[in-house]
Amino acid sequence: MSIDNELTYLFKLYGSDKIDHLYTDKYFSYLNSLKNEKLNILEIGIADGKSLLAWSDFFKNSTIIGIDIKSIDIHEKKLNRDNIKIHQGSQSDSNFIETLIQKYQRFDVIIDDGSHFPKDVIKSFKLLFNSLSNNGYYFIEDIQTSYIHFFGGNPFDLKYSNTQMNFFKNLTDSLNYQEIANPFYKKNQYDSKINNITFYHNLVVVKKGFNEKKSNLVLNNSYEDMRYLEKVNRSNNNIKYFIKYKIIFKFYTLLLFFLNWVKKIILLRF
Ligand SMILES: C[S@@+](CC[C@H](N)C(=O)[O-])C[C@H]1O[C@@H](n2cnc3c(N)ncnc32)[C@H](O)[C@@H]1O
Repeated sequence: MSIDNELTYLFKLYGSDKIDHLYTDKYFSYLNSLKNEKLNILEIGIADGKSLLAWSDFFKNSTIIGIDIKSIDIHEKKLNRDNIKIHQGSQSDSNFIETLIQKYQRFDVIIDDGSHFPKDVIKSFKLLFNSLSNNGYYFIEDIQTSYIHFFGGNPFDLKYSNTQMNFFKNLTDSLNYQEIANPFYKKNQYDSKINNITFYHNLVVVKKGFNEKKSNLVLNNSYEDMRYLEKVNRSNNNIKYFIKYKIIFKFYTLLLFFLNWVKKIILLRF
């Protein structure tokens, strides 16, 4: 295998399996420009500490925080470096994660290489998202467990199971939350806070960032309200447009909303 960047070299040096998964080029492309910054980098899952040692060499000015459910012997694993901090706890334990957030305040890069169980991956993402810096990256490794029932995944009902893959697929709707022409749509905690979500083989990358671009077609989650506004701004025939957009079109939207609500009840999809 050719070693064409420093991160690949370091992960190979310390024997991390991030090489076998072909993650290292991706990490390099996102993180190389941040190499000299003073960041808080959190990795869930330490094991032998191989990746922490690589991050520690690469991000010399940053604090590398590793968490693991198991007790880690920092001397045996040679993790007793000034820029490495180790904490024992579970990624899905809200008290533990809250204590971590209180201590470090913000994380600029988060890597989830922990249990890989869908419920843990989703829970820690929910617990940690607010503490991710604006423009920060959240990497989720080994999402193939979504497709393996021995890990709590579901290979039989790909689109509607509670896997991390579906969680992140659904999260992509947040990118377009202003375009959702459903007057009952409720903004969630991710809407307006995600810049992009990228899917690779076994890896998902979420970039946090402001996303408040208004829709060109939808106003306050209503297409008919936008059309009404456009029309009355261009003409004086308000009554005609009021009847068309505020009554007839609105009624049609409400009817579709109701039919979809019934469909969801019949299919038990909430
Ligand atoms: C794949 S290994 C981590 C490898 C390491 N990141 C590297 O690249 O060298 C997964 C680690 O996650 C830890 N782990 C498992 N369940 C966890 C949980 N619920 N919370 C935190 N860590 C967990 C395991 O103890 C194990 O050490």
